[in-house]
Amino acid sequence: KKTIEDVQWQGKRALVRVDFNVPMNDRGEITDDTRVRAAIPTITYLSQHGARVILMSHLGRPKGERNEKYSLRPVANHLQELLKGIRVSFADDCIGDTAKAAVEALTDGDVLVLENVRFYAGEEKNDEELAKAFAELGDVFVGDAFGTAHRAHASTAGIAAYLPSVAGFLMEKEVGIMGEALASPKRPFVAIIGGAKVSDKINVIENLLPKVDALLIGGGMANTFLAVQGNDMAKSLVEADALETAKRLLDVAKEHNSRLLLPTDVIAAKAFAADAEHAVRKVSELAADEMALDIGPDSIALFQAEIKAAKTVIWNGPMGVFEMPAFAKGTFAIAEAMVEADATTIVGGGDSVAAVEQAGVADKMTHVSTGGGASLEFLEGKKLPGVAVLEDK
Ligand code: 3PG
Repeated sequence: KKTIEDVQWQGKRALVRVDFNVPMNDRGEITDDTRVRAAIPTITYLSQHGARVILMSHLGRPKGERNEKYSLRPVANHLQELLKGIRVSFADDCIGDTAKAAVEALTDGDVLVLENVRFYAGEEKNDEELAKAFAELGDVFVGDAFGTAHRAHASTAGIAAYLPSVAGFLMEKEVGIMGEALASPKRPFVAIIGGAKVSDKINVIENLLPKVDALLIGGGMANTFLAVQGNDMAKSLVEADALETAKRLLDVAKEHNSRLLLPTDVIAAKAFAADAEHAVRKVSELAADEMALDIGPDSIALFQAEIKAAKTVIWNGPMGVFEMPAFAKGTFAIAEAMVEADATTIVGGGDSVAAVEQAGVADKMTHVSTGGGASLEFLEGKKLPGVAVLEDK
């Protein structure tokens, strides 16, 4: 894979696909700028090497129509605050005369943010004409939007057919760290998978089972596995139509001699509510009116011991309903154990990333992925279209 370090940038137009799809509140203020900050090493490198830096991204899902609610202007303003000393401008369109005029006005080292690429229906259709219209704005394409790399869209994939294409630093880092962990992990290699549903994580579990030394399963999805093993999970979320799948995954684990560990105890509550009455229960001893909303203290001890002995740890998905403090202990205990482990620690996927941020330990991990769906598909072992187009042809 070629990177931005393999290009002579002076005076060239670097057309960079970033993922500036950040959460915003009703007043149009960015509530989490992680993804903007994650793009800065690439942007500053290009600027310092004399490139004219043109950034394109989507924001939200405007469904192929112009919609001010999804304008990238606030993100451009925020980027200017972060990039003191570099001139950042904004173009009200991402193709055509407006975009071209804004590009013409750049001098070496300047940065331009184009308007939301999803204002055009061709973006998500990976339309050739749109990809060509983007390509007219630059000399070299830089793929740095790892968070959108699982989408084969005009600005993430199609465009690479029309310009020399290289990877940015964020893309390189995400694919490098996670790829290395999957391909040649330092052992023991432990993966922790959580979240509500087995059905969302089947492919991840299947891909990881043959690779890991232990797979720890928590969160709502653990209930379905525990039910297969004959436990009465009472009012807990159990996916009736995933029971067969869970059973098969337990068999796959046996085939590969991988240790698949499930919770042995849970925090059982009388209702799905922050103030619900709750108690610690063995997984075989839930009362008829109870539901599991977090893993219990024995499970925490079991999981923490595995994590602390590991040399590589990958975590995707919370252990319980961590938005409610009464059911957040399991999730935070995983984060703490990862901090203490003498290991390569990787957090991938939306909810677990939010958890490590809440716990204030994001910067103590080896890597916190900027991808939600993208990191999930990466952990599934899929080839991401936005990565594939950057590979040497
Ligand atoms: C994400 O937030 O996962 C990416 O930016 C992709 O967004 P999308 O799910 O709307 O394609």
